[in-house]
Amino acid sequence: MKIRTAVFPVAGFGTRMLPATKAIPKEMITLIDKPLIQYAVEEAINAGIEKIIFITGRTKKALEDHFDINVELNNQLELSGKKDILKDMKRISEMVDIIYVRQKYMLGLGNAVMCVKDIVKDEPFAVILPDDIILSKTPVIKQLIECYDKVECPIISLMPVAKSDTTKYGIVKIKEKIDSRFSRLKDMIEKPEQNPPSNMAIIGRYILTSEVLSALDKIEKGAGGELQLTDALKYTATYHDVYGYEFEGKRFDCGTKEGLLEATINFAASNEKLKNILKETVYSLNIF
Ligand code: G1P
Repeated sequence: MKIRTAVFPVAGFGTRMLPATKAIPKEMITLIDKPLIQYAVEEAINAGIEKIIFITGRTKKALEDHFDINVELNNQLELSGKKDILKDMKRISEMVDIIYVRQKYMLGLGNAVMCVKDIVKDEPFAVILPDDIILSKTPVIKQLIECYDKVECPIISLMPVAKSDTTKYGIVKIKEKIDSRFSRLKDMIEKPEQNPPSNMAIIGRYILTSEVLSALDKIEKGAGGELQLTDALKYTATYHDVYGYEFEGKRFDCGTKEGLLEATINFAASNEKLKNILKETVYSLNIF
C-alpha cells in the first residue's frame, strides 16, 4: 500500500522553550522566516504525501490559523498591491487539507499516535516530529518512503550521536546491515539511562504500519511514565521485521535553544540572500 498520510504529533507543551512558548505553540517558533511546522508540512508535501493529520491540543489554535485562509489579511495585501506576499499566503492556505484530532491527555508520543487509529485503519503512514528539522537534498520522509516501498515494514530514521547523548533519544540495536544506511533492527530502548545498545539514535521521522498500532494497545507505560512509540516498535520487532535507515541530511533539534540557533545559522548559510549578512555578522563579532 502507498504511503499517503503523514501524522504530526503537535499537542506537547514545549516547556524546554519557555518563555517563548508560553502563549504560542512551539511548532509556531520561527526558523528564519517560517514557523517550524511549515518546514515539516512542506517536507511531507515534497515527498508526495496527500493527507495530513495534526494530533493537537487545547492551546494549538495558531497552528490551525496558520494553514487556514485569512480573508482580511488577503484583502489588505490585495489593496496594497503586495502581490508576491499575497501569492505566498494563498499558497500556504491551499497547500493541503489538514485533519485535526485532539489528544486529550499528554500521555506520550505513543498515545498521540494511537489517536489516528480510526482514521488510518490498515494503511501504513508517516510520522513527522516537527521539532526535528532536517536540512537535506531529498526530504527525509521521502527517503524513508522509498525504503518502505522495498520492504513494506515499519521504518525508523536513524542518526549516530555521541555516547554521552544517548540518554536523550530512543537508541536501537542493529540485527543485520542490508547496506551502508539500511538495517534490520533487533531491539530499541527509549532514553537508556545506562548501557545504550549502540550510538544510533531514533530521529523524528517514522513509517508505521497497523502492527505498530496494535502493539501500542498491548504495551505498558515506559520512560517518563508515558506510552512510548519506541516501546511499541520494540514489541513489533519481536515478531515482525522493523528497519532503520540512516538518513542523508543534517538534523537540528529545534525544541531547544541550542538546536534552533544551530538551525538558524545553517539555514542562513544555505540561503543565497542571507549568506553575506551571516558572514559579515560573524566576522564583526570577532569571537574566534
Ligand atoms: C522522541 C522519541 C525518541 C526520539 C526523539 C527524537 O523523544 O520518543 O525516541 O529519539 O523524539 O527527537 P522526545 O524528544 O519527544 O522526548
